[in-house]
Parts: sequence; structure tokens; C-alpha cells
Amino acid sequence: MHLGVNIDHVATLRQARMTTYPDPVAIALMCIEAGAEGITAHLREDRRHIHDEDMHRLAELATNGILHLNMEMAATNEMVLIAKTLKPQACCLVPEKREELTTEGGLDVVSHISRLKSVVSTLAASNIRVSMFIDPSFEQIDASREIAAPVIELHTGHYANLHGEEKIKELAMIRRAADYARDMGLIVHAGHGLTLENTADIVAIDAIEGLNIGHAIVADSVFKGMDAAVRDFKKLMSRNSSLGV
Ligand code: PXP
Repeated sequence: MHLGVNIDHVATLRQARMTTYPDPVAIALMCIEAGAEGITAHLREDRRHIHDEDMHRLAELATNGILHLNMEMAATNEMVLIAKTLKPQACCLVPEKREELTTEGGLDVVSHISRLKSVVSTLAASNIRVSMFIDPSFEQIDASREIAAPVIELHTGHYANLHGEEKIKELAMIRRAADYARDMGLIVHAGHGLTLENTADIVAIDAIEGLNIGHAIVADSVFKGMDAAVRDFKKLMSRNSSLGV
């Protein structure tokens, strides 16, 4: 199971003081060194954390084969143009609202099918593998397939925030959605709100091939350093380990 580390919040820390440090690109290289398979970064419309310059530097490393870059973005003309120029290996389309603290829900592919279809095909023409960040819903999976998105990323944020019976129900829905999508030939990823405490149950879902994790890894790195923070998640995600499944 592969790990994409979302480095947005390294840039959040930099922007808290509008300084030049910590450098998210330097941290990205540390994450790869520690065993992460990829780096995810979200260039938001308001540039609140990752800036264009960061994305350019990450894309250069991606072009040179040093890291696998997943650019998270809203499906706007501006972002599509930037992605076509930078050509990261992957793009994940997410909904974006200025007032939100983080990506609050999945993309509504069903309601924006023609726009998203055109964005997916434009990006695919630049050799970018496009992923749709969606809630675990059969309708959203059907729509993602209909627009020829090769990958979906299931939103685990609600699962992460729930407790007891509700959490168990949401986990079962994530499992059903992941199996359904895999069986129709989609590559299935998951992410949002995952921590060392709640990730093992997601790892146990075979149909999920990769996870994107940001906030918990950056938070853990304050205590133990980025290298240990990434390695601990990688250990948890190893499907052969006793911790994993
Ligand atoms: N996947 C997507 C599509 C996201 O938008 C985010 C948050 O930026 C993540 C994964 C990572 O979420 P978290 O920071 O809660 O681990």
C-alpha cells in the first residue's frame, strides 16, 4: 500500500510568519527518503499554504524522476492551465471553498459531470492520471467511471470524525465503495483525517491501494521528526505486519 504525504501544512507553518522556512520541498525530499511513495500538495485558489513556486519546484523533481507528485486542485481553468504546464504524474480534483479550514466533503461528480469530463480528458491528454476525491457513494463512483477518471480517492474525513456505531457503519460503507470501484476497474485511494489510531482499519480494506495523509504526519513530526513520522505510518500500512491488518 503506498503512502502519499500531503505537505500542505509545512507550508502553513511557513505562511504563519510569511518567512521562507520551513521549506515544504526540502521536507518532501525527507518524506521520500523515509519511504513515502509520493508527495501530495494542494495549490489552493487563495494560495494559503502551497505557493506556485513550491509547486514548480516539486514538479521539477517529479520531471527528473526524484518523486511522484500528486497535485491537488479545484477543477478551475486557472488550475488546469497550471497542471498542463507542470505535468505532475497525478492530479486529484477536489471541491474548494474559500471559507473552509480543509476539504470538507467529496467532489459532487454527479452534478458537474460534463465540466469534470472535459477537465479529466484535458489533463489525461497531458499524460496526467486524474483522481476524483469523492465520498464513499455508489453514484459518485459510477459518475467517476462515466467521465473516464482512472482513480478515485475515497474521503475518510467523516469516518475519522465519527465514534462508535456510526464509525463502524461509515467504515463498512468505505469498504463497500472501495470493493465496488475496484471491481469496475478503478484504482482506489483514500485519505483525509487519517491518524496512527484510525488508519489500521482502512489498511485492512484490500481494494484500497494508497493513502494520502497530511495533517497527522506533519503533527507527529513536531514530536518525533519527519523521518520517524513517515516510517511509523509506513509500518502501519505494511500489509504483512502484525500492526497492519
Ligand atoms: N486527500 C485529499 C484529497 C485532501 O484534500 C487532503 C487534505 O488536504 C488529504 C487527503 C489529507 O488529509 P489530512 O491532512 O487530514 O491527512
